[in-house]
Amino acid sequence: MNIESIIPYMYIAASVFFVYGLKRLSHAKTARSGNMVSSIGMLLAIVATLLYGGMSFKWIIVGGVIGSAIGASAARLVKMTSMPEMVGLFNGFGGLASLLVGWAEYHTIQADPASGSLFTLIAIGATVLIGGVTFAGSMIAYAKLAEKMSGKPVLFKGQQLVNGALLLLSVAATVMFCVNPASTYGIFIGMVVVSMILGVLVTIPIGGADMPVVIALLNSYSGLAACAAGFVIMNNVLIVAGSLVGASGLILTSIMCRAMNRSLANVMFAGVGATVSGGKTFEGEAKTVSAQDAYLMLEAASSVVFVPGYGMAVAQAQHVVKELGDLLEENGCEVNYCVHPVAGRMPGHMNVLLAEADVPYEQLVEPQDVNPTITNVDVAVVIGANDVVNPAAREEGTALYGMPIIDVDNAKVCIVLKRSLKAGFAGVDNPLFFAPNTRMLLGDAKASITHVVGEFKE
Ligand code: TAP
Repeated sequence: MNIESIIPYMYIAASVFFVYGLKRLSHAKTARSGNMVSSIGMLLAIVATLLYGGMSFKWIIVGGVIGSAIGASAARLVKMTSMPEMVGLFNGFGGLASLLVGWAEYHTIQADPASGSLFTLIAIGATVLIGGVTFAGSMIAYAKLAEKMSGKPVLFKGQQLVNGALLLLSVAATVMFCVNPASTYGIFIGMVVVSMILGVLVTIPIGGADMPVVIALLNSYSGLAACAAGFVIMNNVLIVAGSLVGASGLILTSIMCRAMNRSLANVMFAGVGATVSGGKTFEGEAKTVSAQDAYLMLEAASSVVFVPGYGMAVAQAQHVVKELGDLLEENGCEVNYCVHPVAGRMPGHMNVLLAEADVPYEQLVEPQDVNPTITNVDVAVVIGANDVVNPAAREEGTALYGMPIIDVDNAKVCIVLKRSLKAGFAGVDNPLFFAPNTRMLLGDAKASITHVVGEFKE
């Protein structure tokens, strides 16, 4: 029996593992095993691919060793708080890898035009365009998330026209190298450059609170680029895996748009936050509390809602928050954790941290479930969240306008844990800090909660 004849069956099995793994990823309890199932699928796909005849194992081993060394050291060295930008980089390199697959195939066809069909050339065009946009766009998203460049939208006159012209140029280049693949290497390189410029230009106008949509969209693009690369080399498992990433990324994009209450077109083309300044300046007197006073309020409460945000990730406060939640429950208090879909810096950021601290899934509640009854909540404890609880989102003219928030200002008392009165990621001042029922517990969230826990234990 020819060993290559079993490859399609292995690919089908790998695809089933991917789909089943993805299904398990949709629930926090099964997510870990879902990751494992998908990894087994990937191993199967790699082994099957290596069974093809004529492989240059020397270069595969060199690439594998270098890639594994970079991946393993990044996994060990990159801090949990830097995971969002790491995910941004992964998306980008996925796009670059697909672009390089398209380039390699074009290189072969350019030397021997008879070896490439029109379909393959069109697929190469799509791979280069989407891969280039994904790579360059992800580098900008990385720079914004890592605060290596300003998160503010960058807009200039005629930006949409320039983007449209660049897109047309890429399509024209594809048509040209489809018509004459033998003599057009310069055009191909030009197309690579144009796609990357386009990636930069479509990402720089998006800033502040709309970044979650971009990250989800770039994730989807990286899948679509892989899918197109699959058509270039006619590899079934790459087509399936790419489509799964592309489709799930699009679903995530739609969830993020809904969370921001914006349409995709509004996020992509309006440069929200560019025309308005960070928003109004809210002034007043913020009332601070000590950890001991916060303890007294919590000790007397019969219902508490924790609202985690990016600051909880920075402080790595999730374990002490869970400890405080347990102590409150022992005290007869009803405890819930309300997670906003865009809290933190990556989709599911807060859910991952809370799951790591073993917060029971049943205690996680959605903002739309909490908001209608939040007036009955005795204490809302905001742990390093800012934009997702900012009442300025209700005011026209602020960069956050329209985004649904968690209405902690309507709870009986709201305790906000952060280090200063500074604005959040979107740069909009937060009137919550000056509300009559708000108490600011200033300092590092982990240190503050550890202090409160200490009071409970005394
Ligand atoms: P942010 O608005 O980013 O606010 C986080 C707050 O945490 C800061 O104001 C900071 O205030 C505080 N903080 C930082 N370190 C702290 C520490 N050690 N202890 C206590 N507090 C600390 O957070 P959010 O409410 O979670 O909103 C997320 C924002 O990021 C949204 O605008 C969202 O659109 C955007 N975004 C989200 C994503 C995804 S996919 N989730 C991706 C990109 C961007 P101090 O400096 O005063 O302490």
